[in-house]
Amino acid sequence: MCGIVGAIARDDVVPILLEGLRRLEYRGYDSAGIALADGGLRRLRTTGRVSELSKLVGEQQFQGMVGIAHTRWATHGAPSERNAHPHFSAGVGNVAVVHNGIIENHEKLRQRLQSAGFEFLSDTDTEVIAHLITLKLQQTSDLFEAVRLSIDDLQGAYAIAVIEEAQPERIIVARNGAPLMLGLGEHCNYAASDASALLQVTKRMIYLEDGDVAELRRDGYRIVNCLAGVTSKEVVRAVYESELTDTDVELGPYSHFMQKEIFEQPGVVANTLEIVLNAHSISPQLFGSDAEHIFKQIDSVLILACGTSYHAGLVARYWLESMAGLACNVEIASEYRYRDPVANPKTLVVAVSQSGETADTLAALAYAKSLGHQHTLAICNVPESALIRSTDLRFLTRAGPEIGVASTKAFTTQLAALMLLSVTLAKLRGKLSSEREREVIAELRHLPVALKHTLQVEDQVMVWAERFAHKNHALFLGRGMHYPIAMEGALKLKEISYIHAEAYAAGELKHGPLALVDEDMPVVAIAPNNALLEKLKSNLQEVRARGGELYVFVDSDSTIQQSEGMHVIILPEHTRLLSPILHTIPLQLLAYHVALKKNTDVDKPRNLAKSVTVE
Ligand code: F6R
Repeated sequence: MCGIVGAIARDDVVPILLEGLRRLEYRGYDSAGIALADGGLRRLRTTGRVSELSKLVGEQQFQGMVGIAHTRWATHGAPSERNAHPHFSAGVGNVAVVHNGIIENHEKLRQRLQSAGFEFLSDTDTEVIAHLITLKLQQTSDLFEAVRLSIDDLQGAYAIAVIEEAQPERIIVARNGAPLMLGLGEHCNYAASDASALLQVTKRMIYLEDGDVAELRRDGYRIVNCLAGVTSKEVVRAVYESELTDTDVELGPYSHFMQKEIFEQPGVVANTLEIVLNAHSISPQLFGSDAEHIFKQIDSVLILACGTSYHAGLVARYWLESMAGLACNVEIASEYRYRDPVANPKTLVVAVSQSGETADTLAALAYAKSLGHQHTLAICNVPESALIRSTDLRFLTRAGPEIGVASTKAFTTQLAALMLLSVTLAKLRGKLSSEREREVIAELRHLPVALKHTLQVEDQVMVWAERFAHKNHALFLGRGMHYPIAMEGALKLKEISYIHAEAYAAGELKHGPLALVDEDMPVVAIAPNNALLEKLKSNLQEVRARGGELYVFVDSDSTIQQSEGMHVIILPEHTRLLSPILHTIPLQLLAYHVALKKNTDVDKPRNLAKSVTVE
């Protein structure tokens, strides 16, 4: 999604703005731009990469001490230079605006502003903000005040940064429903939509809240909260020392962030499980001080999430049902928010999200609350996210920043967290003996090592990747709690290699998709040695009998042999309950290596954004 960087200093801020944009590239974008306020309002925009923008900056000796910059992921209006941010509005003060999010009432505002004589030069919803501020500057000469008055008229989600030629000693920013933070320095201050953009210059950050409008000067800042319907007042927000280091968001020896993040999994899963690894029992406190009290009142679980996080929820359903005996529904957030579900106040609503900023997940959670759900838990990877602030209980996965658009380590850490939740609820409901609890803890303790061993299948997966690179379609099969893993494998393959991939519960094959199977359709199957293995073997025979080529990931004791049309990779470790976590690894590696063979942009697949902050 779009990215914002702003900087005001005593010397040239352009290198900082460009480096900030470079660090936001992972979020996905299709154009980039930069504007400066001092020495006349100026801008450069391109539909190329940030490196292209840097080239333009160099050629035109573009320098200044107050500026804003943006990477745009098109929503309203095609990806083109005229639609790229910053957007200008000429008038009393000449303002420039960058914006993340969507202004829902932009059409109405556009008509109003056109009637007032403003000429629109782009198709974006953002340009209405620029003209609106100019309109307000006719009432007040103060830019801060003009922004504050403008946001009263805006509906939708936004994070904006504004500069004005007439007042080049400040940047005004505002947030409502889209992430935005301030970075504090010595005689210089910054704003960005993501901390990773600012780590190059500061670790001292302030996370703005909805309704906040802030003014940044070289030697100070102020924040006023202007939530609709409430009188504006100056507020003090906590200053955080970011724990992220520059290397957390750097590639290091790896070729891609996705590769780095796949190989980080043993470490980050260990970090996520740290509190448990040295314990003899799992405490509800892991989820918050009130967790035991809340968990004792619930009789079912509702998981809300999107994409890969939704797949984690689907796996958790099997765990929650079988271990804790709890009814569990898992809902795609964008669907749930527009249904008329019947709320049960005794349900624990669990929102799962890597970023904690996914618009659909946040809206689904708010909707669940509005329906009368009282108990909410967030499982999230970003401590400062909106999601973490929206629930009674929370569990932070400790995957570290995930830069690759295709989620990998966030998924396995979410699964680790959901296993802890299942164990906790099972225990509180008297469904888990102390002995069984100790066994599960022992399995969890071994998990990081098991992940490390599983990564060793990479060489064998690379051989398969060679064959997949020439295919246009693939089927993924799994049963039971490995069916969502098949879904995740198919999602990974399609998003980064652009090969069309579908996942099916293997038992469903003969109910339709078997018609697709021929020698050109590789069929990937996840075949752990569990109670469903014999059933799965029959499904695999159905594929072989139709000439389908099988690629099967098995446990050492799955007793599936390599044969004509049946390719087999044996996973070196076999963990029973946690098997979905291990079986995810080769599927991530397969997608990664197929994408490499196809020479696609692994970390920034076309059309996709890292954090989907719009509906
Ligand atoms: C796929 C992927 C997406 C995200 C989805 C939800 O690789 O990354 O499907 O899982 O957009 O994002 P979060 O977890 O941030 O809510």
